[in-house]
Amino acid sequence: MTSPFPQTFPATRLRRLRHSGWIRELSGEHALTPSDIIWSMIVHDGEDAKVPVGSMPGLDRLNVDEAAKAARRARDLGIPAIAIFPHIDPSRKDETGSEALNKDGLIPTVIKAMKDAAPEVGVICDVALDPFTIHGHDGVVDEAGYVRNDDTVELLRQQAVVQAEAGADIVAPSDMMDGRVGAIRTALEEGGFSNTMILSYAAKYASGFYGPYRDAIGSASALKGDKKTYQQNPANSDEALREVAMDIAEGADLVMVKPGLPYLDIIRRVSETFAVPTIAFQVSGEYAQIKAAGQNGWIDEERVMMETLLCFKRAGAAGVITYFAEAAAQILND
Ligand code: PBG
Repeated sequence: MTSPFPQTFPATRLRRLRHSGWIRELSGEHALTPSDIIWSMIVHDGEDAKVPVGSMPGLDRLNVDEAAKAARRARDLGIPAIAIFPHIDPSRKDETGSEALNKDGLIPTVIKAMKDAAPEVGVICDVALDPFTIHGHDGVVDEAGYVRNDDTVELLRQQAVVQAEAGADIVAPSDMMDGRVGAIRTALEEGGFSNTMILSYAAKYASGFYGPYRDAIGSASALKGDKKTYQQNPANSDEALREVAMDIAEGADLVMVKPGLPYLDIIRRVSETFAVPTIAFQVSGEYAQIKAAGQNGWIDEERVMMETLLCFKRAGAAGVITYFAEAAAQILND
């Protein structure tokens, strides 16, 4: 890199700016605040207040009452929004994920409970069928196991309207079907939900880092095959820009890059190229890695957690969805 300034030793000693805490703070380029954090939360339709998730130590599936209480804690901690993900009783799953369209289902019930408890906190809902299908795919599959695009989009637009009706502030299609953002935007406008925002999982990669999540929502054992015919190839970067450009044109208000840390280069390119808020998702496998190494005493969990969250800001993210939300916000509030 060529610099417009002469930076020669000893006129320049870069360590001067690192000498003491106060000057490191003063000259810091980026900062993390609770308002940058979105709480990733797993909710379930059972009686138990909390059910631990084996592959995500420290994380529980919450029932409806606990989710409402958590919304109040989010408000008190200055966390602006919660993203909810459902674990439903397997008996409610079917071939087309029809439970996703149930107006009295788990997600609409949780949305209402959270909005009653803490209306100031934004509620973000995943639009995808995988928590509701017996095969664990994000859409409807044909005989060959291929996820059918346009048939899936038709269901997703209905699912998004159900969520908006229940009071969701943001619907977040995570399915990677082509054309779903436009279809959802049209359905929301027609349904009178012109202020409901769309956060599109625009650049979502076919990643091994989602493993613990599939365990958390109970789709891991169900999933037949992988999601490589709809999620992006980890080898690609230019393709992410095409995905984001299309989603913005179709009406996305915010866009997401997912997973998080291994894809900071994509966050950088997207946030620099498009003048639209870019959200990073620190996914379940990233959480599990940090937790596991921390539990073994191999890394300082708290320090690595805060470092990774700051790195998302440095890369250009407007906010980060994370399972560490409550822990990190507590530290920032202290
Ligand atoms: C599925 C969905 C996934 C996640 C959010 N929505 C998993 C997948 O695509 O298989 C992953 C979240 C995480 O790993 O934390 N629509």
